[in-house]
Amino acid sequence: MNQLFIQQAESLIDPSLPKISNLSNLLALAFYEYPDINWIGFYYCDNAKKECTLGPFQGKVACTRIPFHKGVVGTAAVQQKALTVNDVHCFPGHIACDSQTNAELVFPLIKEKETYAILDIDSLVLNYFDEDKIETFQAYTRLIQSILFNDKL
Ligand code: SME
Repeated sequence: MNQLFIQQAESLIDPSLPKISNLSNLLALAFYEYPDINWIGFYYCDNAKKECTLGPFQGKVACTRIPFHKGVVGTAAVQQKALTVNDVHCFPGHIACDSQTNAELVFPLIKEKETYAILDIDSLVLNYFDEDKIETFQAYTRLIQSILFNDKL
């Protein structure tokens, strides 16, 4: 677990700021802390339309709409569980926003039993997300969730 990274992330959060300010900084922190991550960001989920739409991110221009059940993001939205994809080329229906991506990790953010958003992390490196990184990004996701789900922000 990358404790230093999580501490940096915690110290960046300023509760006096709007959500988007804190989320943007947390995404930038991860993007530059991990040079082999080529994309990190959110998709917001519309459970009525069964569709995920692009939210804040760091990285190249990305797909804007992902239907539930499609790709890694849409699969996580339906299954409501984190998915580690060691080789995206072996994931049926993977959506290649960037052909350089080789591995992917997604965390669903669940609010009142519905998938509220998906945190999506892409890497250039096959098998990039080992246990240590998954644990680190689980902790990072909890911080993101504490901002997104805070009604006072
Ligand atoms: N690869 C994702 C699409 C989103 S991009 O990686 C930013 C997927 O298969 O759902």
